Formats: sequence, C-alpha cells, structure tokens
Amino acid sequence: MNLEDIRQIAVLGSGIMGHGIAQSFLMGGYPVMLLDVEESILETAKARVKNSLELFRNAGMIESPDIESALERLTLTVDLKRAAEAADFIVEAIPEDLSLKQDLFQYIETLCHPNTIIASNTSSLTLDKIGARVKNKKRLVITHWFNPPQLVPSVEVVKGEETGAEIMDTTCKLLEKIKKAPVRINREIPGFLVNRIQIAMAREVLDLYEQGIASAEDIDEAVKGSIGFRLASIGPLLTMDLGGLEIWFKVLENLLPEIQRSTQPPKILKRLVDQGHKGIKSGKGFYDYSMDFSKGELEGVIKKRDREFLKRLRNLYWKTSTGDK
Ligand SMILES: NC(=O)c1ccc[n+]([C@@H]2O[C@H](COP(=O)([O-])OP(=O)(O)OC[C@H]3O[C@@H](n4cnc5c(N)ncnc54)[C@H](O)[C@@H]3O)[C@@H](O)[C@H]2O)c1
Repeated sequence: MNLEDIRQIAVLGSGIMGHGIAQSFLMGGYPVMLLDVEESILETAKARVKNSLELFRNAGMIESPDIESALERLTLTVDLKRAAEAADFIVEAIPEDLSLKQDLFQYIETLCHPNTIIASNTSSLTLDKIGARVKNKKRLVITHWFNPPQLVPSVEVVKGEETGAEIMDTTCKLLEKIKKAPVRINREIPGFLVNRIQIAMAREVLDLYEQGIASAEDIDEAVKGSIGFRLASIGPLLTMDLGGLEIWFKVLENLLPEIQRSTQPPKILKRLVDQGHKGIKSGKGFYDYSMDFSKGELEGVIKKRDREFLKRLRNLYWKTSTGDK
C-alpha cells in the first residue's frame, strides 16, 4: 500500500486517544470513519473534536471553513464491518486489554481489504501478541500517539517482527502528510522509546519529592525552566554535543551512583493512590485542587492546557501553506 492508495481512514475507539487521532487525520484532509460501541460515546467524541478544532481556529492555525469541512469528512459509526471495509488505513485505539484487541484484530482482518494497513495505538502490548490470530502480520504496525494526540507532534512508529518495510515507510509518510513527526522504532521493546525516557525521569522526580529536596511547585518550575525549556527545541543528544561530551562523561561518572535505581514504583505514589488521591480527577494529587471539579471546570483546565500546547505547536512545528513555520 503506497501513500497515494490511502484515501479513507478508520479509527476504532473514540475515547481520549481515538477522537484526537481522528481529528489529526481530518485536519490532514482525510475522510475518517470513527467507530465506538455506542452512539452517545461517538456524539461526545464529535463534540470534543469540534471544540478542539475551534481552539486551532482561535490560535490562527486553521480557518472557520476548515472546521466545517473537517466535520463533514467525519462519519460516526457503530458498524465495524462498514468502517473496516471502507478503510485503507485503520488505527485501533480501544482499551489496553489484550483479549479485546486480539478479538478485534482477528475480526477486522476478515472484513478489510487485503492491503489495508492496520495500526495499533497500544502503549504496552506487542504486535506479536495483539496480532497472534492475524494471518498476514506484515501489514500490522504500532503507531503510538501521545496525549493529546491532535496536539503532540511525535508519533512512535514501531516495527513488529513481521511488519513489512513498505508498511513502515507508508505509515511514516502518511503521518508526515498530516503534519505529525513520526519516529521510527526499529524493534519492539517495552515502553518503546519515549516512555522509557519519561519513566526514568519520573522515578528520579518522585524520589526527590519524597526526600523533601524541593516542593512540588519548585520541582515543576525547575524542570519547565531548564531541561524542559531546552528540550522543546533541541534533543538530549544534541544538548550533549553542544555541552561537550567529556563534561557529560565526568558528570555521569560522578552522579550515576547517586541516582535512584529502584525497580519498584516509588512509595509516595502508592501512598497517594491508596489514600484515593488520583490527581485532578479526585481533587488532590501533588497539588490541591480546591475548586469543585464539575465536568465543566475540568474541561476548562484541559482547554487552558491545550491553548498552551497550541502556542508551542505553532512556533515549533506548524508549517503554513506558504512553508513558514
Ligand atoms: N490515554 C493515553 O494517554 C494513551 C496514550 C498513548 C496510548 N494509549 C493507548 O491508546 C488506547 C486507547 O486508550 P484511551 O486512553 O483512548 O482509552 P479510552 O478508554 O479513553 O477509550 C477507549 C474507547 O474504546 C471504546 N471501545 C471499547 N471496546 C471497543 C470495541 N470493541 N470497538 C470499538 N470501540 C471500543 C470505548 O467505548 C472507549 O470509548 C489504549 O491502547 C491505550 O493504552 C493511551
């Protein structure tokens, strides 16, 4: 399947990830069939897509008519046969449950065209397992998007043992076409690439917090204003080259023995979770959210976050039709 052969997208599952993935393809000009198990869930997903498109418009990144045309290209359906038969590229974004995904993959293979590419948005499962009952495993690939998928540029494109080279190429080209930044992962390893890096940082951050080295506010500000500030523009390896590898060597030699190396989740996180503190959705996490978290206010916090992300997306990644960044 070449890029030019891809005319219709299907996104299976319209939750946190599915609706944003669908939106990305809509904004890239593709017709999308969005599937879920209930029509009411799909209507909520469509409303979220519309709200997010309006944020893009308010940030000057799309025009009002683009919202209308994107929504016209969106078809909601609870009919898997309809979605799978029509699609040239399918993204699965149903819950992270192996048997659910295995059943779905086995069934969609019987419905879709033999050349259709089938991508999973799994965070932690392998293609080998998800596609265990799929006959043609060459066309399976993982596309691991980051939340919120309509805003975060990178998508990890992970090669399973049997994924065809042309499937990897076409998937990366398709993502580039819709203004995403695909990252090729040549072999499936747990956590792929980005989550391994993120988890390494989380372990150290939680340890520093637990030791009382700094407050939650100060830890967040320190990371945002230093490594976060830098990493938004240049990656960690270029940072090392610019700083001098001999210095990095010395610093690693001195500090690695001091860094947290536990293989258990940090106690502080377990304590908070056991006490029912799950973060914003329970009203308390590392911060206290004194406001009443009715749905509307939670949506407001998400909108504020998305407006911040849009500014960054526009400055760092967004190319206009005239080629400007
Ligand atoms: N949430 C994240 O931050 C994140 C990030 C990267 C990857 N992922 C992965 O993306 C996938 C989806 O996660 P999510 O957070 O969007 O989940 P979610 O629970 O928000 O959404 C899943 C949706 O799938 C629907 N669904 C369930 N069974 C279905 C079926 N058989 N057919 C069609 N739809 C079905 C549900 O009704 C729900 O709307 C998971 O594999 C998850 O690991 C999540």
